[in-house]
Amino acid sequence: MQIVESILSLRGQIKTWRAEHQTIAFVPTMGNLHEGHISLVKKAQTLADKVVVSIFVNPLQFDDKQDLANYPRTLQADIEKLTQVGCNLLFTPDNEVMYPQGKDFHTFIHVPGMDDKLCGLERPGHFDGVATVVTKFFNIVQADVAVFGEKDYQQLLLIRKLVADLNLPIKIVGAATVREDNGLAMSSRNQHLNETLKQQAAALYSNLLELKRQLESGNQDYSALLSQAHTQLTASGFTLDYIDIRRAEDLQLANPEEDKELRLLAAGRVGSVRLIDNIACNLA
Ligand code: PAJ
Repeated sequence: MQIVESILSLRGQIKTWRAEHQTIAFVPTMGNLHEGHISLVKKAQTLADKVVVSIFVNPLQFDDKQDLANYPRTLQADIEKLTQVGCNLLFTPDNEVMYPQGKDFHTFIHVPGMDDKLCGLERPGHFDGVATVVTKFFNIVQADVAVFGEKDYQQLLLIRKLVADLNLPIKIVGAATVREDNGLAMSSRNQHLNETLKQQAAALYSNLLELKRQLESGNQDYSALLSQAHTQLTASGFTLDYIDIRRAEDLQLANPEEDKELRLLAAGRVGSVRLIDNIACNLA
């Protein structure tokens, strides 16, 4: 696997591949790679001839300085995992490469309709930071296709809208959430959980599944269902940011009479660790 830090070297390799008529798939990450990330690389390998992964802990998308400072950086282990899976090129730019004039004097991409709901409300500025860095990466790498996890469903929708609105010539593919044996969605943050908290954390997924089961059996009393889930998650040790039933298409509030393609989403803290999860629920 090639490892490049500069945009110039990356573009050189891409140009060579293009001259050889190779197609390119791109997987952006912030590193500290786990099975979830690796599943995206494997999916990318089925979609194009060459796979480019980026590792960059993007300061623009962290509203909390401490969270940015604490973000696990494990480059050597990441390189081993990517080599093993057969990734072709790893791009590891630093802040100087991505934001040469500093991040506070940089053009922003703002995707409307995202920061007024769910994770957008909890993390001001977060989605602008994601949209900006991903747009930069798309322009730098110029891949045919990019793979994003459904684990971050709101982020996936944001990227889809960004690409549609700005007519970016790239295809966006979503990949299913990879989970621990107890159902907990894999996340870089899980390593901050001890065994007890890990067991508690599994309640996020099991409550989403129970909510889905109730909806599928015809229960349309959203507020009763959500308040029940809220109570149960609180009893399991969660401090919830939200649990909600939304339209899968755009994350607007769902209407029990009309909407059949739903997304059930939740976020909250166990101990001091913030976790998110979501699942599909199709009633059609
Ligand atoms: P990061 O949190 O490193 O995630 C990189 C990609 O891995 C995202 O598309 C995310 O949805 C996916 N992912 C994370 N956990 C997963 C799991 N358990 N199963 C499947 N996919 C999973 O998301 C980001 O980085 C950043 O916001 C980024 C897009 C790189 C922009 O900085």
